[in-house]
Amino acid sequence: METDIIVDLQYGDSGKGKVAHFLCKTKKYTHVLRYNGGCNAGHTIFHKGKKFITHHIPAGVFWGIKSIIGPGCVVDPVQFLKEIKMLEDGGIKTKGKIFVAKNTHVITASHRNEDAVDVAIGTTKRGNGPAYRDKYARIGVRAEQVKALKPYLIDLYEEFYENKKKVVILGEGAQGFGLDIDWGDYPFVTSSHCTTAGALLNGLPPQSVRHVWGVAKMYETYVGTKKFEPKNPAFEELRRVGEEYGSTTGRPRQCNWMNVDLIEQAVRVNGVTHLVFNKTDVMREVGEWAVLIGGKVRAFKGEKEMKHFLTTRLKALGIPPRQVYFSESREAI
Ligand code: IMP
Ligand code: MG
Repeated sequence: METDIIVDLQYGDSGKGKVAHFLCKTKKYTHVLRYNGGCNAGHTIFHKGKKFITHHIPAGVFWGIKSIIGPGCVVDPVQFLKEIKMLEDGGIKTKGKIFVAKNTHVITASHRNEDAVDVAIGTTKRGNGPAYRDKYARIGVRAEQVKALKPYLIDLYEEFYENKKKVVILGEGAQGFGLDIDWGDYPFVTSSHCTTAGALLNGLPPQSVRHVWGVAKMYETYVGTKKFEPKNPAFEELRRVGEEYGSTTGRPRQCNWMNVDLIEQAVRVNGVTHLVFNKTDVMREVGEWAVLIGGKVRAFKGEKEMKHFLTTRLKALGIPPRQVYFSESREAI
């Protein structure tokens, strides 16, 4: 078995969907596995010129690769079935391609109702937190108990370990390091593990890991109740130019410069081997180049200087410059 894992190094919305979509096209995976989160996630994917927003279903489906929702996730059957219909309506063939691990926990209507009244965290109100709580309280419902999910159930042990063919899996994460239940800014976090370790929890053996793709934006965004955005018209510009509005909730995302300390922590904890910085063109259009480091703003003369700074820092962490990619919105890597 071989696995590549995609992790978000920030607060979600850094372009994992795009990286997953790109890797699926080129790296010959047999399976794509969503390893954490529920329909709180929103992955914006441009496939053959068409825009899709997925919440549950991994990007493998766009390329006809078996796409699995793993037991590190929580699944809302109503949203899941809606999403399959949305994909089918958009011309994507889903038959025999989409699966849910039978031990994945389910988001119920009462989880959704409970989350709907959250004000403290600013959740996506999709029932994510209550579903994970019930899982760990051992009072939850698993996918195998839900009739509507029967046609999609899969036994991950059989699929991964008793498969006659070589299995090559892409692990596709949701949310990000800054929202991780353990490493994020608690309590302003999500309820799952958004790390490489979180991916492994889905039945992937550590020695199978080939590459860990860290994904970040050239600036930072966060959605939730925590005060995050400093006063600076540049951040309003980043939001406008970068179209920084939640793909699940439509909420404006708070913006800030990229926090290099957070990126470096996430690189280390996740064991990142390859890194993609997205939305370079948005910074270019706004025309300011800066990062946060040690709690202070560090500005650069221009694009070249900021890229050089980042690649030098990453080289010191063991990631060679040829494994660092600077990407533009909507473009392939
Ligand atoms: P929950 O995951 O819906 O419980 O929300 C907890 C926190 O994570 C809130 O601040 C959400 O805005 C944030 N969050 C959850 N999913 C995403 C995502 O996919 N992108 C960005 N933020 C997210
Ligand atoms: Mg998103």
